[in-house]
Amino acid sequence: MRTLLDRDRDCVWHPYTQSGFGSDPLPVVRGEGSALILEDGRRIIDGISSWWCCLHGHGNQRLASAAAQQFETLDHVLFAGVTHEPAVALAERLCGAYPHSFSRVFYSDNGSTAVEVAIKLAVQFWRNRGERRLRVVALHGAYHGDTFGAMAVGARSVFTNAFEDLLFSVEYLSPEGGDAEVARCEELARQGDVACFIFEPSVQGAGGMKFIDPAVLDRYCAIFQRGGTLCIADEIMTGFGRTGPLFASSEMAIAPDLVCLSKGLTSGTLPLAVTMCREAVFREFVSDDHSRTFFHGHTFTANPIACAVALASLDISESESCANQRLRINEAHSEFAERVRGRSGIEGVRVRGTILAFDVVTPEAGGYVSPVAQQARQFFIDRGVLLRPLGNVVYCMPPYCVTDEELEVVYSTLEDFVNHLGL
Ligand SMILES: Cc1ncc(COP(=O)(O)O)c(C=O)c1O
Repeated sequence: MRTLLDRDRDCVWHPYTQSGFGSDPLPVVRGEGSALILEDGRRIIDGISSWWCCLHGHGNQRLASAAAQQFETLDHVLFAGVTHEPAVALAERLCGAYPHSFSRVFYSDNGSTAVEVAIKLAVQFWRNRGERRLRVVALHGAYHGDTFGAMAVGARSVFTNAFEDLLFSVEYLSPEGGDAEVARCEELARQGDVACFIFEPSVQGAGGMKFIDPAVLDRYCAIFQRGGTLCIADEIMTGFGRTGPLFASSEMAIAPDLVCLSKGLTSGTLPLAVTMCREAVFREFVSDDHSRTFFHGHTFTANPIACAVALASLDISESESCANQRLRINEAHSEFAERVRGRSGIEGVRVRGTILAFDVVTPEAGGYVSPVAQQARQFFIDRGVLLRPLGNVVYCMPPYCVTDEELEVVYSTLEDFVNHLGL
């Protein structure tokens, strides 16, 4: 009989994968809590919450019941000219949960699209006001997704090389701040044509798990907002407690104007995303003139089942027990960081919320295609842990329901890896 892998080889094209290297994907048949069960029965700990989204683990019963119940009531309906309870309830809950005063939720279905929506909203906001503002500012090292607009506002890299000539140009500021960068920010703001400034609050994820000081973002946002530039917080990775608080931008003193959420929104069970904004942004689109309409929408916008699951997921994320789980992971990460800090072969051991990361010292420059990633990934899989280093950046970002025993397996695997580097 042909295995799942045999059949996969014949017809599937995987994301972020060079098939020419011939490494096989993991044949996963089931998910249980923090574990993935493979076709051959092996149990692999999902140390990265399946691309950072399965906050409450695999096969979560509360989420499954919410989905099943909603399926029986209303599975799907278009969202133009129609509304439904799960979408309205979720919008109300998200606006209430977000620490800054936001009142409008625009639905879409993945992180890149939530970013596209934010950029398009910002550009059309200025057009509707009769001002020509087309310039966009982002941070060096950013990653905001793979659609064209989202690529354009991200760092140029191996991800974007093939499309470089088609991407609109963007000004970049350093996430590290500093007087020279603040002066450049002031200069950009003075020119009066910046539509929006987009950033990942607290942590740049795909860019290498780089932590950002909220005070730096506050300085940039304060300067931009003085001139009306809309500030966009991309919380697609950081949202729903990943860095500690429910939203990383709550650690900023300055509130953004728009925020993008996805990934943990449904705890990775169904595709859903939102771009939320302040009422003042929405008001610029309200008119008796069609040309001020935001002509954007997707077939699966505000899918009722996804919204119902997101409500159930938010209930869990907001609970005291979930906050305690996050705290427990943070403490365990911090202890492990102490254990390996200063070991040869690694540097930059860091912890923020439930994220643990360190850099492998390599003779060549790091970057996503560093050979360290492939070798390390295999090393971890052989020991029953799914970790997918970003180039030479090794990180762990487990589901919040991960057990202490599972965490210890992850840490001992990481320690073996560090010892192996030191040989
Ligand atoms: C900060 C950030 N923004 C946007 C995205 C894109 O989200 P998606 O992969 O759902 O398109 C990601 C994905 O990793 C992300 O980390």
